[in-house]
Amino acid sequence: MTIIEKPSTSNVPSVTDAGAEYDELLDRLTDGSIHRSFDPYRDIDWESPEFAVVENDRRWILPHIDPLGAHPWYQALPEDKQIAIGMYRQANVAKVGLQFEQILIGGFMQHISRLPNRSAEFRYATHEVIEECNHTLMFQELVNRTGTDVRGLGPFMRRIAPLLPIAARPFPSIFFMGVLAGEEPIDHIQKSYLRSDGDYHPTLEGVMRIHVAEEARHISFAHEFLRQRVPQHGPFARFVLSLVYPIVLRVLCNAIVVPPPEFWSEFDIPRSVKKDLFWRTKESRATLRSYFGDLRMLGEDIGLMNPVAKLLWKLLKIDGRASRFRSEPERTPARRAA
Ligand SMILES: [Fe+2]
Ligand SMILES: [Fe+2]
Repeated sequence: MTIIEKPSTSNVPSVTDAGAEYDELLDRLTDGSIHRSFDPYRDIDWESPEFAVVENDRRWILPHIDPLGAHPWYQALPEDKQIAIGMYRQANVAKVGLQFEQILIGGFMQHISRLPNRSAEFRYATHEVIEECNHTLMFQELVNRTGTDVRGLGPFMRRIAPLLPIAARPFPSIFFMGVLAGEEPIDHIQKSYLRSDGDYHPTLEGVMRIHVAEEARHISFAHEFLRQRVPQHGPFARFVLSLVYPIVLRVLCNAIVVPPPEFWSEFDIPRSVKKDLFWRTKESRATLRSYFGDLRMLGEDIGLMNPVAKLLWKLLKIDGRASRFRSEPERTPARRAA
């Protein structure tokens, strides 16, 4: 089985040798990183009075597009409690984003440390690391300004997080599946905020706008990396990857979108509410499926959708229609769930 790869040398075909088209794409992405990138301290006016975090600010109330915001239990709470929960939840989402990106940065450094001279992949991936470092700065700034002491990921993931980047070196394809498992749901959620007409706290909006703009490049890279890399594996390794792919997506998606135990206990949120949101109701299951349309398309395109894999996608409750193109607007949840 060849999921474990030998380090690249000038004699070993690497992703950079795999095609001029791939190198051209990497050059375009690099160009974007150079000319269309953001700085969280230059492009967000943190000190503006409008950005101040003040008591009883209704802009922290969770909107309907947030599953908890749409839940009758939350909506029945007094306004000050809705604000407190909303602020904590948004801060925790930022902290999870930060922790996920720290794993990504660590894995990228493992991966690029073995790329050869003149590698277009080295140049682009290093730009991406710089952008992700900026994202961790702005996410931490948001957390700090809310004054909440959020923990981010759950206790198990917090413990194993430092070990995950090590996987990038022997298992680059699996590592990049993990990258997409985090980037796609986070991007999906942030886009739904930006597309809605809610009156959000401007800090939140500024952070999301920068993040969505730069994640478009990151997600393109991870997709193209897997399009290049997966077909290079032999049939048995591809079969194994076809099973690993949906498992990685589902496990990491859960780790990223389900708030940690501290959140539920801090606000005495009933267990039944947690179950409704993750993933007992029909609406919540449709939301879960909706995160993965682009990744089902990628799976089909790179030969990871055999009958056994399809069954696994179904068992993991992330099956459904594949997107026809990246970022294809969703159908309504009710239609998707049908
Ligand atoms: Fe990011
Ligand atoms: Fe990213």
